[in-house]
Formats: sequence, structure tokens, C-alpha cells
Amino acid sequence: MPESRLITVQVNGKAVSVPAGSMVSAAMLKAGDLCRVSVTGEPRSALCGMGICFECRAVINGVAHSRSCQVACREGMTVETQR
Ligand code: FES
Repeated sequence: MPESRLITVQVNGKAVSVPAGSMVSAAMLKAGDLCRVSVTGEPRSALCGMGICFECRAVINGVAHSRSCQVACREGMTVETQR
């Protein structure tokens, strides 16, 4: 089995290492953090995993409402829970 190269991203200030090519939603799950909090305060995270439901929106490199299931992690990327 080929070894995957690990890259590190910052999720809500925590360093999280994931295999290169992983989606941001996976890094957020690994960190144990929510993708977003709904307007009524409910926890939300990736649901469809294919860009349709928008439940996985997060702040990625300062860009709000980014679909974290559609963005691949890059070294040094910063991700925050959308509030
Ligand atoms: S999980 Fe549905 S759009 Fe990302």
C-alpha cells in the first residue's frame, strides 16, 4: 500500500494532519469540530459530501460560507467553524 503524504491545516486554531488530497470537511471531522452553527444555534456538519446540501459551510482561508466538502486541504490552510 503506498504511503500518503500528510499535510497540516489549522482547524479553529488546532493543528490537524490529514493525507494530501483530503477534503476540508474530513479535517474538520478529524478535529472534532462543527462545520457551522445554524441561525437557530444547531450544530451542522457535512451531510451529502458532494456539494449539494450546503450543510458543510465553513470559513476557509477567511472566505465565509465555503463548502468544505468541495475544497481540498492545502498545507497551512486555516479553517474555522462558520457562525
Ligand atoms: S456536505 Fe453537502 S454541500 Fe458539502
